[in-house]
Parts: sequence; C-alpha cells; structure tokens
Amino acid sequence: MSQTTPSESQLAQEVRKRRTFGIISHPDAGKTTLTEKLLLFGGAIQMAGSIKAKKAQRHARSDWMEVEQKRGISVASSVMKFLYQDCEINLLDTPGHQDFSEDTYRVLTAVDSALMVIDSVKGVEEQTRKLMDVCRMRSTPIMTFVNKLDRDGRDPFELLDEIENTLGIQASPLTWPIGMGKLFQGVYDLVNQEIRFFTPPDDKGRRPEERAVIKDLDDSKLDELIGSAAAESLRQDLELIHGAGYPFDRDAYLEGRQTPVFFGSAVNNFGVRELLETFVKEAPPPRPRPASTREVSPLEQEFSGFVFKIQANMDPAHRDRIAFMRICSGRFQRGMKVRHHRIGKDIQLSNAIIFMAQDRAGVEEAWPGDIIGVHNHGILKIGDTLSSKEELQFLGIPNFAPEFFQRVFLKNPIKSKQLEKGLVQLTEEGAIQLFRPVGGNDYILGAIGSLQFDVTAARLKAEYGVDAAYEPLDYSTVRWIWARDKKALEKFRKRYFNSLVQDVEGYPAMLFATRWRLERTREEWPEIEFLASREQQ
Ligand code: G4P
Repeated sequence: MSQTTPSESQLAQEVRKRRTFGIISHPDAGKTTLTEKLLLFGGAIQMAGSIKAKKAQRHARSDWMEVEQKRGISVASSVMKFLYQDCEINLLDTPGHQDFSEDTYRVLTAVDSALMVIDSVKGVEEQTRKLMDVCRMRSTPIMTFVNKLDRDGRDPFELLDEIENTLGIQASPLTWPIGMGKLFQGVYDLVNQEIRFFTPPDDKGRRPEERAVIKDLDDSKLDELIGSAAAESLRQDLELIHGAGYPFDRDAYLEGRQTPVFFGSAVNNFGVRELLETFVKEAPPPRPRPASTREVSPLEQEFSGFVFKIQANMDPAHRDRIAFMRICSGRFQRGMKVRHHRIGKDIQLSNAIIFMAQDRAGVEEAWPGDIIGVHNHGILKIGDTLSSKEELQFLGIPNFAPEFFQRVFLKNPIKSKQLEKGLVQLTEEGAIQLFRPVGGNDYILGAIGSLQFDVTAARLKAEYGVDAAYEPLDYSTVRWIWARDKKALEKFRKRYFNSLVQDVEGYPAMLFATRWRLERTREEWPEIEFLASREQQ
C-alpha cells in the first residue's frame, strides 16, 4: 500500500480532537459502572448493563480472548473508543481486581491523562495510591470523581484533605455535594453556579435533568429549593471553599499538581455528564513524548509509536501475540512498513487491529493518541519503538518493582534450556519479571499481582512444555540499586552479596522482606539509590 504523508492541518485536527486516558481506582469504587455510563454518553454502547453483565466474564470489550474468557478472567486490558462532542476518546482499561498486574501500571504510561474514581465511603484506598505513584512519575493530569454520594459517606472536606495528604496533589472541587445518603439532593456546580438536582433514574435508566441557577447564595430561593438546613450548610461549605480552597488552575491540572474534583453517583448516572464535559474541554490531547535523543511532537508527520503491552494466547496454536502500540506522531495506515529499531529490521503492519468507535467499520488509519494492536510472533517486546524513518527510542515505559515473589523449581532438569528460554521471553513480553541471585542459580519470579504467576505457569507448560513447581518467597518488594559513587556501590555489594539479585538484563537489585527493612537499609546507606522502577533498555 502506498503511504502518503498527512497534511499538517489534517494531522493537527486529528491530534486536537483525541483524548487518551485510563481510570485509576481501587476495586469496587465504581470504575466499571462509570465506564459504562461514559460509553453510553458516547453512544459506544446502547444499553445500560451491557458492560456490567460481562464483568463477571471479564472484560467487556476484549471477548476475542477466548482462552481467558474460559477461565472467567482476562489478563489483559483493552481499548474502548467513543466519540463525545467533537472528541475521539480512547479509554484504556486498567485491570483492577484479581487481574491487577504490571500491565495496569504500564497502561498508564500510554495515556495523556487519568480519571481517578474514589468511593466516598472508603476514601483513598491502596490500589489508587499505587496507581497514583505511576501517574506522578509522568506528571499525568488527573480528574477526580468521588462516587457513591447516594450512600452515607465521609465528609467531603475530609475526602479532599485525604486526596491532598495521601496523594500529594491539590484538590479543587468543581461541584459540591448537597447532603449525602438518603439526604443527597444533588450538587452545586461551582463553575456554572447552579444546582443540579439528584433525581433517581426512571425504569429505562433515564434521569430527567433538573437544574436551577443560583448565582447569589444568599438568595432565599436556595432555602425554598433545598430546605433551610441544607441551604445553610451549603453556604458555609462554599464560603470555606472560596476562602481556603484551591480555585481551578488549568496549568496546575495539566502539570499534574492539581486535580479538579466532581461528586456524583455513577450507578445513578449522576454527575457523569459534568465530568465528561469538563474532560473533553480540559483534558490534554496527545502531548510531546521524550525519546532518548529528543522529544517527539505528535504533530510530526513521520509515524512513530511504542509498545506498552503484549497480549499472548490470542491463538495458542500459532503462539500469536498482540502488541499494543500507542501512536505518538504522524499517521498510521494499514499495511505500512515501519522500522523496528531494536532488531534493525523493517516490518509491515498489515494485519494491525485498529480500535475504533462503533459504526466506523473499514477504518484504515489511526492517529497520535490512538492505540493499535500489532500481530506478531514474539519479535516485539515492551518498550519497543517503531517509526517510519528516524531511529528513535521512546522513554518512560519502565519495569515496576514487583511485590510478590516465587522461586521456580524444575520437575525435570532436562527442561532447563526451555525454562530459561520461556522465562526470558515471558519477561520480554512483560508477563512476569525474572531475577537471579548474584551468587546462585535460582530463578526468582516477581509480580505486581499474583495472577501473573498462574499465567506464567500455564504458559510455560502450554508453550514451552515446562512443568515446574513454584514456591512463594517471603519478600515484599525489590529495589534496583544504583549509586554515583562506585566505591560505595562496591562496598554495598560486598556487604549484601547474598541478598542481591540481578534482573533479566543484568541490572542489580535487592530483595526486601519488609518495607521497614527497605527503609532501614535506605537510612543506613544514603549514598545508594533504591529505585522502585527501571527504565526499559
Ligand atoms: P469496580 O469496577 O471499580 O470494581 O466497581 P463497579 O463499577 O463494579 O462497582 C462496584 C459496586 O459498587 C457495584 O455493586 C456497583 O453497582 C456499586 N456502585 C457503583 N456506583 C455506585 C453508586 O454511585 N452508588 C452506589 N450505592 N453503588 C454504586 P455490586 O453490588 O458489586 O454489583 P451490582 O450487583 O450492583 O452490579
């Protein structure tokens, strides 16, 4: 197929309308419910309940993974594209329940912004904190949706404080709840200065929208509409917000220093439209991305992209794998030839999957911010860059420190070559991480979510014929070790020779049984850096 260069104006227009984001939340905060409402608004699904119904099978839109479906789970995240106003939105799923894994973190390296969902009853929870750490590495802009206001939750000020203190980001409310639980009446929209009333949806899931503009809060109309007690409390709250809160600051949001906060109830489809409208208006389109030699602008006409996730077992008979690639610049055209820099070869992207909004069959091209799936037989690994001409290596797709560890024992020693080959390949695909003791021959597997071990064991058996035994290890984290002062590093190595490991690329790391032990070692060795992630090479 002949490739043509897009015109500058066409490229700029396509970039401007794209929004690529992921949702960060703790299981049960309401991510699936909110996703469904967003897709309903975008017309990508027609009926409420269709995503939730499939959640049991995990995941709604990735039902091409038959093998995973049979197991009732998906080890993968998928891409959901929908249109809203004049925007093309790519929502990258961030698997969160038992399929929480390093993939979840890596998806966040491929987005331009994130949406954080917090349960108003539970506040900021563990997985949200971890995902937020990843967002912070790239200063990803984040919008927040505080969910389940129809329940008796925590005081909204307390929730804002918790966001600020535990996540280290300013919280700027753009809506404010009026009551909660049984007394939940709706929200006050601080931008449009109006009340949006909470009315339960009818039996078809539609919710009549009722609003009342209240510019002057002292207006007695407020008392008539929501009752004097609620009116008084709203006045006090808003006075506090205007006096001591952070007004919305677009630059601070775009730099990841401030999160605009919305309150609502996803299951009742309340507060979601305001969120989506602000999202398309304020969330950033694809941004320039750093590569090892320079920064690459999405507006550059040459095509470039990087692999952030690999999904295997699409068709076990063919050992087929799909590499998910985020497009960073230029235009993708089906069948185009691109340079695979790591192996120094051209490859043809003839059978790529283009994730598209419904009713747009036959799409042959994709643009910066879009994700394409490339079929391959193992030549692509996480972090690989493909581009049409210039040699590029995108940065920012690291390995993240695992939190679960297992030792692998071979049942049949004859298979040791296959074991090593399988483990190295699975590591390159990002299915698992592999460490070897500096002074030993053991294979130590590291994972972010324990399901990764099941997947690894199943794939070693099915694809490499390796039947192994696995023993959990009593470590809770690992840190890559680095120091400017090479003498200090040598001293440290000697001192901890028996606890040191190296990863699959030979980088030194150290296993820790507890966080406390890590902190103690950090204090004792100030000249050593203990890194929680390592950039892919
Ligand atoms: P997740 O993907 O983040 O894990 O959460 P999910 O959307 O599945 O929601 C978790 C539970 O919280 C679900 O209940 C869901 O209905 C409920 N939920 C979501 N949004 C709201 C809300 O605004 N208010 C209230 N009260 N509940 C909400 P479930 O009992 O686990 O499932 P279901 O049988 O109700 O679907």
